[in-house]
Amino acid sequence: MSESRLPVEEAGTAPPTATLEYELPPSFVESPREQTFTDGLSSGGLNLSAVRRFPWTPLIDRLPSLLERGPAIEQFRSLRSRVYEARDIRPLKSILVSSGLPQEGKSFVSANLAVSLARHKNSKVLLIDGDMRRYTLHELLGTESYPGLAEYLAGKVTAEQIMQRPEENEPLSSVGHALSNLTFIPGGNGGDKAADLSGNPRFGELLRQVAPYFDWIIVDSSPVIPVSDGVNLARSCDGVLLVARAGVTKYLVAQRAAAELRASHVLGFVLNAVQENPQTGSYYGYNSNKE
Ligand SMILES: Nc1ncnc2c1ncn2[C@@H]1O[C@H](COP(=O)(O)OP(=O)(O)OP(=O)(O)O)[C@@H](O)[C@H]1O
Ligand SMILES: [Mg+2]
Repeated sequence: MSESRLPVEEAGTAPPTATLEYELPPSFVESPREQTFTDGLSSGGLNLSAVRRFPWTPLIDRLPSLLERGPAIEQFRSLRSRVYEARDIRPLKSILVSSGLPQEGKSFVSANLAVSLARHKNSKVLLIDGDMRRYTLHELLGTESYPGLAEYLAGKVTAEQIMQRPEENEPLSSVGHALSNLTFIPGGNGGDKAADLSGNPRFGELLRQVAPYFDWIIVDSSPVIPVSDGVNLARSCDGVLLVARAGVTKYLVAQRAAAELRASHVLGFVLNAVQENPQTGSYYGYNSNKE
């Protein structure tokens, strides 16, 4: 077992840190993209030309991985490396991000990890808001939340109807470039039915249908101690990342969260929002823009 500390700091925000524990890879299993991200009806039956484009207006302060440079870029890049290393051990494409309790940073980590992955090697990334009760990812991206996963799971709409891509502006701004490989499925409005919907086999079918088109699928979720939605969705995902908030998440809560997800493949913990030692600030102030 190895551990690496990945401080995530952004000017003006609480300096967070991400830590991911993972098993060392015994072998390398490259998972190439099966299909390029071109529009049109494919053999898998997903009509990407029907996916709507929206004028996303992302909140940079909650998506610091969109910036050209800065500590968050480095820290999410490190987290991304750990995720790639986890994929060296066994096939890994769909990752559910969860935690024990509310407000530990699941949505922050999901969205920023998705952006970081999408900026790397021209990877195609699908970000799914699997929290059908307190869906917030649409706020981070500055877009619509409906229709979304809840409506799809209820059988009301197709996969293409809940997927969104950002509008293409010419020339693309740096933020536009960072988002251009990202596709988003918002939460929709599950309300009281969220628990039932999360257990619907249509979620597994959705992942199987979209998987050939993406290198990575990141699924945000509800906290697993108060509600079972995240545990249900995790059954269809290849792996689970658990978030703990430094100075907030109690050890027993983290332990309980891992226990709730024992039927899934837990990749490790991300320790979020660690107060960084100021002396290390100059080191993390050094940034490389290479993706
Ligand atoms: N590392 C961080 N740096 C700065 N702000 C953060 C960080 N992590 C989380 N936050 C902020 O803390 C708040 C809670 O984070 P977030 O919404 O990601 O938590 P959550 O676990 O998804 O909560 P919920 O269970 O309610 O969905 C948000 O306002 C978010 O922007
Ligand atoms: Mg959330």
